[in-house]
Amino acid sequence: MNPLSGKHIVLGLTGGIACYKAAELCRALVKEGASVQVVMTEAAEHFITPVTMQALSNRPVYGSQWDAREPNNMAHINLGREADVVLIAPASADFMAKLLHGRADDLLSLMCLARPAATVPLIVAPAMNREMWANPATRRNVAQLRADGIRVLDVGQGEQACGESGDGRMLEADEILADLVAFFTPQALAGRRVLVTAGPTYEAIDPVRGITNLSSGKMGFAIARAAREAGADVTLVAGPVGLSTPRGVRRIDVRSAREMLGAVQAQVDGVDVFVATAAVADWRPANAADQKIKKDGSGETPVLRFIENPDILATVARSPRAQAGLRGEAGGLYCVGFAAESHDLLAHASAKRARKGVPLLVGNIGPATFGKDDNALLLVDELGATEVPRADKLALARQLVAEIARRLTRGSTSGHGA
Ligand code: CTP
Repeated sequence: MNPLSGKHIVLGLTGGIACYKAAELCRALVKEGASVQVVMTEAAEHFITPVTMQALSNRPVYGSQWDAREPNNMAHINLGREADVVLIAPASADFMAKLLHGRADDLLSLMCLARPAATVPLIVAPAMNREMWANPATRRNVAQLRADGIRVLDVGQGEQACGESGDGRMLEADEILADLVAFFTPQALAGRRVLVTAGPTYEAIDPVRGITNLSSGKMGFAIARAAREAGADVTLVAGPVGLSTPRGVRRIDVRSAREMLGAVQAQVDGVDVFVATAAVADWRPANAADQKIKKDGSGETPVLRFIENPDILATVARSPRAQAGLRGEAGGLYCVGFAAESHDLLAHASAKRARKGVPLLVGNIGPATFGKDDNALLLVDELGATEVPRADKLALARQLVAEIARRLTRGSTSGHGA
């Protein structure tokens, strides 16, 4: 399921301080199961040694078009033919100008020009000073490279090695990795909008105490990430969790169930898929105190009374657009619920699917998943139940996103009832 597994990546390094990030990127690519062939320009070798890149990629690094190691002495042809993608990171302003003009006076530029452009995509991650990035020449070059079918990644923003601050830093290794994974992922949700809730909610008792649960938010964050990889425009409404936002995902932080409902209702218009993974607190204290509740020395303990929280999924599922989605109508909202159960998963998940009025209910065993990195799922829809065997949460999320995409297509072509 890992989109980079088995891929062969030619990683080109050109001259720039961001070469240090290429070392980390190379390592990350190998960890994802890709094979990496590093090609460096002479300028890149001023910033990082081929020894480092060889050790990380586990392959000799290429640097010269006169390298005699290749039996036919044509490294520039052979390297490009073997690749699934050529990724230049960092790509200097000078190297991008070279690509633009089709110049080929070193191995890397020669290989880029000689690669079969129809089958071997070229992706560049620019890295330069902010003035260089803003210069009209670079702006023109970026626009023309894109028009030529070369994928130019975004740049980062912030402090630069030169001491200035602005646009032009190379993306971090994990950001480039995320973009590359998305590049190799079938864009099954392209043009779709997806809204995800994740994590626990926190219901205040007083300003310093509250009630929450053990949900880590990992599954919901993984689903948001997988949906983004599949091309969706993703909004993630997150309860209090310590997770970083997946690349390209819009995140709205909330605390209580009522805040989560408010955020969901503000976002749900125009959304195609709603995935409710949040472990929403079913009850909240009836009277949260404005001030910290103090011990008064009497030995008496406070008594908490609870009232029920709104059911976010059921509220959304009752809307006319969600009802249209349930009937498989085009333009409807497709709702996906989760059920954390302790036993009798199929029976409880099927009953919850009917009770919440959603087309797809994903069941899992709560104690076996909270806080963990892996899980197993049971997908229950109008056709029955499908098991998704135990795997890490990102792998499960990718499978679930593919299943949702399949159901969207099925719904819009044939219609499906509850
Ligand atoms: N959910 C929600 N708002 C709530 C409670 C639950 O949106 N107030 C959503 C969850 O995000 C999940 C699904 O409803 O997608 C199932 O939640 P769960 O707590 O397992 O089920 P309950 O309806 O609370 O039933 P029970 O506690 O009896 O299992």
